[in-house]
Amino acid sequence: MRTLIKNGTVATASDLYRADVLIEKEKVALIGTDLSGLRFDQTIDAAGKYVIPGGIDPHTHLDMPFGGTKSADDFETGTRAAAFGGTTCVIDFAIQPQKGSLRQGLDDWHQKAQGKACIDYAFHMIAREIHAQSLAEMDRLVKEDGVSSFKLFTAYPGVFMVDDASIFRAMQKTGENGGFICMHAENGPVIDVLIEQALAQGHTAPKYHALTRPARLEAEATHRVIALAEVARVPVYIVHLSAKEALQQVREARDRGVRAMAETCPQYLFLSYENYEEPGFAGAKYVMSPPLRAKGNEEELWAGLKQDDLALVSTDHCPFCMKEQKELGKDSFAKIPNGAPGIEQRMSLLWDGGVRSGRIDINRFVQITSTAAAKIFGLYPKKGTIAPGSDADIVVFDPDREIRWSAKTHHMRVDYNPYEGRTTRGSPTHVFSRGELIVENDKWLGKTGAGRFIKRGG
Ligand code: URP
Ligand code: ZN
Ligand code: ZN
Repeated sequence: MRTLIKNGTVATASDLYRADVLIEKEKVALIGTDLSGLRFDQTIDAAGKYVIPGGIDPHTHLDMPFGGTKSADDFETGTRAAAFGGTTCVIDFAIQPQKGSLRQGLDDWHQKAQGKACIDYAFHMIAREIHAQSLAEMDRLVKEDGVSSFKLFTAYPGVFMVDDASIFRAMQKTGENGGFICMHAENGPVIDVLIEQALAQGHTAPKYHALTRPARLEAEATHRVIALAEVARVPVYIVHLSAKEALQQVREARDRGVRAMAETCPQYLFLSYENYEEPGFAGAKYVMSPPLRAKGNEEELWAGLKQDDLALVSTDHCPFCMKEQKELGKDSFAKIPNGAPGIEQRMSLLWDGGVRSGRIDINRFVQITSTAAAKIFGLYPKKGTIAPGSDADIVVFDPDREIRWSAKTHHMRVDYNPYEGRTTRGSPTHVFSRGELIVENDKWLGKTGAGRFIKRGG
Protein backbone atom coordinates (compact mmCIF):
# COMPACT_ATOMS: atom_id res chain seq x y z
CA MET A 1 0.00 0.00 0.00
CA ARG A 2 1.34 3.41 -1.01
CA THR A 3 -0.29 6.60 0.25
CA LEU A 4 0.59 10.08 -0.97
CA ILE A 5 -0.07 13.01 1.35
CA LYS A 6 0.19 15.94 -1.01
CA ASN A 7 0.29 19.73 -0.90
CA GLY A 8 0.78 19.92 2.86
CA THR A 9 3.28 21.82 4.96
CA VAL A 10 5.58 19.37 6.73
CA ALA A 11 6.46 20.46 10.25
CA THR A 12 9.07 18.69 12.34
CA ALA A 13 10.80 19.89 15.49
CA SER A 14 13.35 21.70 13.31
CA ASP A 15 11.85 22.33 9.85
CA LEU A 16 8.81 23.77 8.15
CA TYR A 17 8.40 23.33 4.37
CA ARG A 18 5.90 22.56 1.62
CA ALA A 19 6.26 18.95 0.48
CA ASP A 20 4.52 15.74 -0.48
CA VAL A 21 5.05 12.70 1.73
CA LEU A 22 4.94 9.19 0.30
CA ILE A 23 4.11 6.37 2.69
CA GLU A 24 4.94 2.82 1.66
CA LYS A 25 3.57 0.06 3.88
CA GLU A 26 4.47 1.10 7.45
CA LYS A 27 7.18 3.65 6.73
CA VAL A 28 7.79 7.07 5.30
CA ALA A 29 9.34 6.28 1.89
CA LEU A 30 10.01 9.64 0.32
CA ILE A 31 9.57 13.38 0.89
CA GLY A 32 9.69 15.72 -2.09
CA THR A 33 8.27 18.86 -3.62
CA ASP A 34 6.01 17.11 -6.14
CA LEU A 35 5.60 13.35 -5.92
CA SER A 36 2.27 13.18 -7.79
CA GLY A 37 3.99 11.49 -10.75
CA LEU A 38 4.78 8.43 -8.65
CA ARG A 39 2.59 5.36 -8.26
CA PHE A 40 0.33 5.36 -5.22
CA ASP A 41 -2.90 3.69 -4.10
CA GLN A 42 -4.55 6.51 -2.20
CA THR A 43 -3.99 10.21 -1.87
CA ILE A 44 -4.80 12.69 0.87
CA ASP A 45 -4.91 16.36 -0.04
CA ALA A 46 -3.30 18.30 2.81
CA ALA A 47 -3.50 21.74 1.20
CA GLY A 48 -3.76 24.41 3.90
CA LYS A 49 -2.83 21.87 6.57
CA TYR A 50 0.25 20.77 8.47
CA VAL A 51 1.74 17.31 8.18
CA ILE A 52 3.25 16.51 11.57
CA PRO A 53 4.68 13.52 13.43
CA GLY A 54 1.98 11.67 15.39
CA GLY A 55 1.84 12.76 19.00
CA ILE A 56 3.64 10.72 21.64
CA ASP A 57 2.13 10.77 25.12
CA PRO A 58 4.73 9.40 27.52
CA HIS A 59 2.51 9.42 30.61
CA THR A 60 -0.74 7.46 30.64
CA HIS A 61 -2.49 5.15 33.10
CA LEU A 62 -4.77 2.77 31.20
CA ASP A 63 -6.64 0.02 33.03
CA MET A 64 -4.81 0.99 36.20
CA PRO A 65 -6.01 -0.19 39.65
CA PHE A 66 -5.82 2.87 41.90
CA GLY A 67 -7.69 4.51 44.77
CA GLY A 68 -9.95 1.50 45.33
CA THR A 69 -11.08 1.37 41.72
CA LYS A 70 -9.62 1.19 38.20
CA SER A 71 -8.96 3.93 35.63
CA ALA A 72 -11.95 4.06 33.32
CA ASP A 73 -10.15 3.77 29.97
CA ASP A 74 -8.57 0.48 29.03
CA PHE A 75 -6.06 0.01 26.23
CA GLU A 76 -8.79 -0.13 23.61
CA THR A 77 -10.85 2.92 24.57
CA GLY A 78 -7.86 4.95 25.74
CA THR A 79 -5.67 4.45 22.69
CA ARG A 80 -8.61 5.02 20.33
CA ALA A 81 -9.36 8.32 22.05
CA ALA A 82 -5.66 9.19 21.84
CA ALA A 83 -5.73 8.59 18.08
CA PHE A 84 -8.76 10.85 17.62
CA GLY A 85 -6.70 13.53 19.30
CA GLY A 86 -3.66 13.01 17.07
CA THR A 87 -1.56 10.83 19.40
CA THR A 88 -0.13 7.70 17.78
CA CYS A 89 2.02 6.30 20.56
CA VAL A 90 1.66 6.14 24.34
CA ILE A 91 4.03 5.09 27.08
CA ASP A 92 1.92 3.62 29.86
CA PHE A 93 3.01 2.77 33.40
CA ALA A 94 3.18 -0.92 34.23
CA ILE A 95 3.11 -1.51 38.00
CA GLN A 96 5.08 -3.91 40.17
CA PRO A 97 2.41 -5.71 42.24
CA GLN A 98 2.68 -5.40 46.02
CA LYS A 99 5.15 -8.08 47.16
CA GLY A 100 5.51 -9.11 43.51
CA SER A 101 8.22 -8.83 40.90
CA LEU A 102 8.80 -6.29 38.16
CA ARG A 103 8.48 -9.23 35.73
CA GLN A 104 4.97 -9.93 37.01
CA GLY A 105 4.03 -6.27 36.60
CA LEU A 106 5.33 -6.23 33.05
CA ASP A 107 3.48 -9.45 32.16
CA ASP A 108 0.27 -7.98 33.62
CA TRP A 109 0.59 -4.90 31.44
CA HIS A 110 1.36 -6.87 28.30
CA GLN A 111 -1.81 -8.79 28.95
CA LYS A 112 -3.86 -5.61 29.36
CA ALA A 113 -2.56 -4.13 26.09
CA GLN A 114 -2.22 -7.17 23.83
CA GLY A 115 -5.07 -7.44 21.34
CA LYS A 116 -6.60 -4.17 22.56
CA ALA A 117 -4.26 -1.28 21.80
CA CYS A 118 -5.23 0.65 18.68
CA ILE A 119 -1.89 2.49 18.38
CA ASP A 120 1.68 1.57 19.27
CA TYR A 121 2.67 1.59 22.91
CA ALA A 122 5.59 1.17 25.24
CA PHE A 123 5.89 0.79 29.01
CA HIS A 124 7.65 2.41 31.90
CA MET A 125 7.79 0.34 35.09
CA ILE A 126 6.56 1.63 38.46
CA ALA A 127 8.77 0.02 41.10
CA ARG A 128 7.15 0.08 44.55
CA GLU A 129 9.75 -2.06 46.34
CA ILE A 130 13.47 -1.64 45.81
CA HIS A 131 15.52 -4.62 46.99
CA ALA A 132 18.19 -6.94 45.59
CA GLN A 133 15.71 -8.79 43.39
CA SER A 134 13.99 -5.76 41.89
CA LEU A 135 17.36 -4.08 41.31
CA ALA A 136 18.54 -7.15 39.40
CA GLU A 137 15.29 -7.22 37.47
CA MET A 138 15.82 -3.62 36.39
CA ASP A 139 18.86 -4.77 34.38
CA ARG A 140 16.78 -7.37 32.57
CA LEU A 141 14.00 -4.94 31.80
CA VAL A 142 16.40 -2.44 30.27
CA LYS A 143 18.59 -4.93 28.42
CA GLU A 144 16.05 -7.52 27.26
CA ASP A 145 12.49 -6.32 27.67
CA GLY A 146 12.62 -2.86 26.10
CA VAL A 147 11.55 -1.08 29.30
CA SER A 148 14.22 1.48 30.01
CA SER A 149 12.50 3.92 32.38
CA PHE A 150 11.21 3.47 35.91
CA LYS A 151 8.86 5.60 37.94
CA LEU A 152 9.41 6.00 41.67
CA PHE A 153 7.34 8.00 44.12
CA THR A 154 8.09 10.27 47.07
CA ALA A 155 4.28 10.43 47.51
CA TYR A 156 1.44 8.03 48.39
CA PRO A 157 2.98 6.42 51.53
CA GLY A 158 1.87 2.81 51.90
CA VAL A 159 0.91 2.59 48.25
CA PHE A 160 3.77 3.63 46.00
CA MET A 161 6.23 5.65 48.10
CA VAL A 162 9.79 4.43 48.46
CA ASP A 163 12.40 5.98 50.75
CA ASP A 164 15.34 8.13 49.69
CA ALA A 165 17.82 5.27 50.06
CA SER A 166 15.76 3.14 47.66
CA ILE A 167 15.52 5.98 45.18
CA PHE A 168 19.28 6.45 45.40
CA ARG A 169 19.98 2.74 44.89
CA ALA A 170 17.65 2.59 41.90
CA MET A 171 19.31 5.66 40.43
CA GLN A 172 22.75 4.09 40.83
CA LYS A 173 21.44 0.97 39.12
CA THR A 174 20.28 2.99 36.10
CA GLY A 175 23.74 4.52 36.01
CA GLU A 176 25.03 1.00 35.33
CA ASN A 177 22.37 -0.28 32.93
CA GLY A 178 21.53 2.84 30.90
CA GLY A 179 17.94 3.22 31.99
CA PHE A 180 16.68 6.23 33.90
CA ILE A 181 14.38 7.22 36.73
CA CYS A 182 11.17 9.23 36.48
CA MET A 183 10.06 10.78 39.76
CA HIS A 184 6.68 11.68 41.18
CA ALA A 185 7.94 14.46 43.44
CA GLU A 186 5.71 15.49 46.35
CA ASN A 187 6.47 15.06 50.05
CA GLY A 188 3.98 12.26 50.81
CA PRO A 189 4.49 11.85 54.58
CA VAL A 190 4.00 15.56 55.31
CA ILE A 191 0.99 15.67 52.98
CA ASP A 192 -0.50 12.81 55.00
CA VAL A 193 -0.16 14.87 58.19
CA LEU A 194 -1.94 17.79 56.52
CA ILE A 195 -4.70 15.48 55.28
CA GLU A 196 -5.19 14.03 58.77
CA GLN A 197 -5.40 17.52 60.28
CA ALA A 198 -7.83 18.78 57.61
CA LEU A 199 -10.15 15.83 58.11
CA ALA A 200 -9.98 16.26 61.91
CA GLN A 201 -11.29 19.80 61.39
CA GLY A 202 -14.17 18.50 59.27
CA HIS A 203 -12.73 19.71 55.98
CA THR A 204 -13.96 17.05 53.57
CA ALA A 205 -14.65 18.95 50.31
CA PRO A 206 -12.60 18.31 47.13
CA LYS A 207 -10.73 21.63 47.41
CA TYR A 208 -8.92 20.32 50.50
CA HIS A 209 -7.12 17.90 48.25
CA ALA A 210 -5.26 20.91 46.83
CA LEU A 211 -4.97 22.73 50.14
CA THR A 212 -3.21 19.75 51.74
CA ARG A 213 -0.68 19.42 48.91
CA PRO A 214 1.10 22.81 48.90
CA ALA A 215 3.45 23.69 46.05
CA ARG A 216 6.31 24.02 48.54
CA LEU A 217 6.10 20.27 49.18
CA GLU A 218 6.37 19.59 45.45
CA ALA A 219 9.38 21.91 45.27
CA GLU A 220 11.01 20.24 48.28
CA ALA A 221 10.68 16.75 46.79
CA THR A 222 11.82 17.99 43.38
CA HIS A 223 14.90 19.53 44.98
CA ARG A 224 15.59 16.34 46.92
CA VAL A 225 15.34 13.88 44.04
CA ILE A 226 17.47 16.11 41.84
CA ALA A 227 20.11 16.15 44.59
CA LEU A 228 19.98 12.36 44.79
CA ALA A 229 20.42 12.07 41.02
CA GLU A 230 23.29 14.53 41.14
CA VAL A 231 25.12 12.43 43.75
CA ALA A 232 24.31 9.22 41.84
CA ARG A 233 25.59 10.97 38.68
CA VAL A 234 22.54 10.07 36.59
CA PRO A 235 19.84 12.00 34.77
CA VAL A 236 16.42 12.33 36.37
CA TYR A 237 13.02 13.11 34.85
CA ILE A 238 10.31 14.79 36.92
CA VAL A 239 6.79 13.78 35.91
CA HIS A 240 3.68 15.98 35.93
CA LEU A 241 5.39 19.12 37.27
CA SER A 242 2.65 21.54 38.29
CA ALA A 243 4.10 24.47 40.24
CA LYS A 244 6.43 27.36 39.56
CA GLU A 245 8.35 26.58 42.74
CA ALA A 246 9.13 23.07 41.47
CA LEU A 247 10.07 24.44 38.04
CA GLN A 248 12.52 26.77 39.75
CA GLN A 249 14.29 23.73 41.24
CA VAL A 250 14.60 22.15 37.79
CA ARG A 251 15.79 25.41 36.25
CA GLU A 252 18.46 25.98 38.90
CA ALA A 253 19.71 22.41 38.51
CA ARG A 254 19.85 22.68 34.73
CA ASP A 255 21.69 25.99 35.02
CA ARG A 256 24.30 24.16 37.10
CA GLY A 257 24.63 21.55 34.36
CA VAL A 258 22.69 18.80 36.15
CA ARG A 259 20.81 16.47 33.83
CA ALA A 260 17.35 17.20 35.25
CA MET A 261 14.40 17.03 32.88
CA ALA A 262 10.72 17.59 33.51
CA GLU A 263 7.33 17.38 31.87
CA THR A 264 4.15 19.26 32.61
CA CYS A 265 0.58 18.44 31.58
CA PRO A 266 -2.25 20.40 29.92
CA GLN A 267 -4.26 20.55 33.13
CA TYR A 268 -1.55 22.68 34.75
CA LEU A 269 -1.51 25.00 31.72
CA PHE A 270 -5.26 25.37 31.17
CA LEU A 271 -6.95 24.82 34.55
CA SER A 272 -6.28 26.23 38.02
CA TYR A 273 -7.08 25.97 41.73
CA GLU A 274 -10.32 27.89 41.05
CA ASN A 275 -11.76 24.75 39.45
CA TYR A 276 -11.87 23.16 42.92
CA GLU A 277 -14.28 25.90 43.96
CA GLU A 278 -16.92 24.77 41.46
CA PRO A 279 -20.29 24.13 43.19
CA GLY A 280 -21.10 20.98 45.11
CA PHE A 281 -18.87 18.01 44.45
CA ALA A 282 -17.77 19.20 40.95
CA GLY A 283 -14.28 19.99 42.24
CA ALA A 284 -13.70 16.22 42.39
CA LYS A 285 -13.24 16.26 38.59
CA TYR A 286 -9.90 17.93 39.15
CA VAL A 287 -8.62 15.83 42.02
CA MET A 288 -5.22 14.71 40.80
CA SER A 289 -1.72 14.76 42.22
CA PRO A 290 -0.01 17.16 42.17
CA PRO A 291 -3.14 19.32 42.30
CA LEU A 292 -4.07 22.27 40.10
CA ARG A 293 -2.23 25.39 41.26
CA ALA A 294 -3.15 29.04 41.73
CA LYS A 295 -3.62 31.17 38.63
CA GLY A 296 -0.29 32.59 37.46
CA ASN A 297 1.60 29.31 37.65
CA GLU A 298 0.56 28.50 34.09
CA GLU A 299 2.48 31.43 32.58
CA GLU A 300 5.64 30.31 34.41
CA LEU A 301 5.13 26.82 33.00
CA TRP A 302 4.72 28.23 29.48
CA ALA A 303 7.98 30.12 30.00
CA GLY A 304 9.57 26.85 31.12
CA LEU A 305 8.33 25.13 27.99
CA LYS A 306 9.69 27.91 25.82
CA GLN A 307 13.10 27.83 27.48
CA ASP A 308 13.28 24.00 27.53
CA ASP A 309 13.40 23.75 31.31
CA LEU A 310 10.22 21.79 30.67
CA ALA A 311 10.98 19.27 27.94
CA LEU A 312 7.49 18.25 26.90
CA VAL A 313 3.80 18.00 27.69
CA SER A 314 2.33 14.60 28.60
CA THR A 315 -1.20 14.01 29.83
CA ASP A 316 -1.01 11.84 32.98
CA HIS A 317 -4.29 10.50 31.57
CA CYS A 318 -5.88 8.67 34.50
CA PRO A 319 -9.66 8.98 34.14
CA PHE A 320 -12.22 8.13 36.78
CA CYS A 321 -15.95 8.64 36.23
CA MET A 322 -17.76 11.02 38.56
CA LYS A 323 -20.45 8.37 39.05
CA GLU A 324 -19.32 5.57 41.31
CA GLN A 325 -15.60 6.39 41.07
CA LYS A 326 -14.96 10.02 42.09
CA GLU A 327 -18.08 9.60 44.26
CA LEU A 328 -16.09 7.26 46.50
CA GLY A 329 -14.84 10.49 48.06
CA LYS A 330 -18.22 12.17 48.62
CA ASP A 331 -17.58 12.27 52.37
CA SER A 332 -13.82 12.72 52.28
CA PHE A 333 -11.59 14.31 49.66
CA ALA A 334 -8.90 11.79 50.67
CA LYS A 335 -10.98 8.98 49.16
CA ILE A 336 -11.47 10.60 45.76
CA PRO A 337 -9.43 8.58 43.25
CA ASN A 338 -6.57 10.75 42.00
CA GLY A 339 -6.47 11.41 38.27
CA ALA A 340 -8.18 13.08 35.33
CA PRO A 341 -8.75 12.47 31.63
CA GLY A 342 -6.65 14.22 28.98
CA ILE A 343 -5.38 11.79 26.35
CA GLU A 344 -7.66 13.11 23.61
CA GLN A 345 -7.44 16.87 23.97
CA ARG A 346 -3.68 17.36 24.52
CA MET A 347 -2.70 18.25 20.95
CA SER A 348 -5.67 20.54 20.31
CA LEU A 349 -5.28 22.38 23.61
CA LEU A 350 -1.57 22.93 22.98
CA TRP A 351 -2.13 24.13 19.44
CA ASP A 352 -4.87 26.51 20.47
CA GLY A 353 -3.30 27.78 23.69
CA GLY A 354 0.30 27.47 22.51
CA VAL A 355 0.69 28.08 18.79
CA ARG A 356 -2.44 30.10 18.01
CA SER A 357 -1.95 32.30 21.04
CA GLY A 358 1.67 32.96 20.03
CA ARG A 359 3.31 31.37 23.08
CA ILE A 360 5.25 28.78 21.05
CA ASP A 361 5.96 28.21 17.36
CA ILE A 362 5.02 25.17 15.30
CA ASN A 363 8.43 23.52 15.63
CA ARG A 364 8.29 23.77 19.40
CA PHE A 365 4.74 22.37 19.27
CA VAL A 366 6.05 19.29 17.44
CA GLN A 367 8.96 19.05 19.86
CA ILE A 368 6.84 19.11 23.03
CA THR A 369 4.07 16.85 21.71
CA SER A 370 6.22 14.24 19.97
CA THR A 371 9.93 14.60 19.25
CA ALA A 372 11.19 15.28 22.77
CA ALA A 373 9.37 12.22 24.15
CA ALA A 374 10.79 10.07 21.34
CA LYS A 375 14.32 11.28 22.05
CA ILE A 376 14.18 11.14 25.84
CA PHE A 377 12.49 7.74 25.99
CA GLY A 378 14.43 5.97 23.25
CA LEU A 379 11.91 5.87 20.41
CA TYR A 380 13.68 8.24 18.02
CA PRO A 381 13.93 8.26 14.97
CA LYS A 382 11.50 5.36 14.59
CA LYS A 383 8.92 7.69 16.11
CA GLY A 384 8.83 11.43 16.69
CA THR A 385 9.74 12.75 13.26
CA ILE A 386 8.85 12.60 9.58
CA ALA A 387 11.86 11.26 7.71
CA PRO A 388 12.50 8.47 5.20
CA GLY A 389 12.61 5.19 7.13
CA SER A 390 10.64 6.46 10.13
CA ASP A 391 7.36 4.83 11.07
CA ALA A 392 4.54 6.49 9.16
CA ASP A 393 2.84 7.74 12.34
CA ILE A 394 1.62 10.95 10.78
CA VAL A 395 -1.09 13.49 11.51
CA VAL A 396 -2.61 15.85 8.98
CA PHE A 397 -3.46 18.79 11.18
CA ASP A 398 -5.97 21.48 10.20
CA PRO A 399 -5.02 24.69 12.04
CA ASP A 400 -8.60 25.95 11.76
CA ARG A 401 -10.69 22.89 12.57
CA GLU A 402 -12.67 23.57 15.73
CA ILE A 403 -13.69 21.16 18.45
CA ARG A 404 -16.13 21.97 21.22
CA TRP A 405 -15.11 19.65 24.03
CA SER A 406 -17.85 17.71 25.74
CA ALA A 407 -18.29 14.40 27.51
CA LYS A 408 -21.20 13.85 25.10
CA THR A 409 -18.89 13.72 22.08
CA HIS A 410 -15.39 12.86 23.28
CA HIS A 411 -14.09 9.33 22.75
CA MET A 412 -12.66 8.75 26.22
CA ARG A 413 -14.66 6.34 28.40
CA VAL A 414 -15.33 8.80 31.18
CA ASP A 415 -18.50 10.67 32.08
CA TYR A 416 -17.07 14.20 32.25
CA ASN A 417 -14.61 16.36 30.39
CA PRO A 418 -12.50 18.82 32.41
CA TYR A 419 -12.79 21.26 29.50
CA GLU A 420 -16.57 20.88 29.00
CA GLY A 421 -17.88 23.61 26.70
CA ARG A 422 -14.43 24.93 25.76
CA THR A 423 -13.71 25.37 22.03
CA THR A 424 -10.23 24.80 20.63
CA ARG A 425 -9.17 25.72 17.11
CA GLY A 426 -6.71 23.33 15.42
CA SER A 427 -7.18 19.57 15.29
CA PRO A 428 -6.32 16.46 13.25
CA THR A 429 -8.23 15.53 10.11
CA HIS A 430 -6.23 12.39 9.22
CA VAL A 431 -4.23 10.17 11.54
CA PHE A 432 -1.91 7.41 10.31
CA SER A 433 -0.53 4.66 12.50
CA ARG A 434 2.39 2.88 10.81
CA GLY A 435 0.94 3.78 7.40
CA GLU A 436 -2.68 2.82 8.17
CA LEU A 437 -5.23 5.61 8.03
CA ILE A 438 -6.98 5.13 11.39
CA VAL A 439 -8.88 8.40 11.82
CA GLU A 440 -10.50 10.54 9.14
CA ASN A 441 -12.22 13.53 10.67
CA ASP A 442 -14.79 12.04 13.06
CA LYS A 443 -14.61 8.56 11.58
CA TRP A 444 -12.75 5.65 13.20
CA LEU A 445 -11.04 3.46 10.59
CA GLY A 446 -8.51 1.73 12.82
CA LYS A 447 -8.45 -1.76 14.25
CA THR A 448 -8.58 -2.81 17.87
CA GLY A 449 -5.39 -4.70 18.63
CA ALA A 450 -3.38 -3.28 15.71
CA GLY A 451 -1.10 -1.37 18.09
CA ARG A 452 2.28 -2.97 18.71
CA PHE A 453 4.52 -3.00 21.76
CA ILE A 454 7.65 -0.99 21.01
CA LYS A 455 10.83 -2.02 22.77
CA ARG A 456 12.97 0.90 23.82
CA GLY A 457 16.70 0.96 24.05
CA GLY A 458 18.61 1.38 27.29
O1 URP B 1 -3.42 12.02 40.18
C1 URP B 1 -2.69 11.37 39.45
N1 URP B 1 -1.64 11.94 38.92
N2 URP B 1 -2.98 10.08 39.19
C2 URP B 1 -2.20 9.17 38.46
C3 URP B 1 -1.07 8.57 39.25
C4 URP B 1 0.14 9.46 39.23
O2 URP B 1 0.65 9.80 40.28
O3 URP B 1 0.63 9.79 38.17
ZN1 ZN C 1 2.57 10.49 39.60
ZN1 ZN D 1 0.68 9.59 36.34
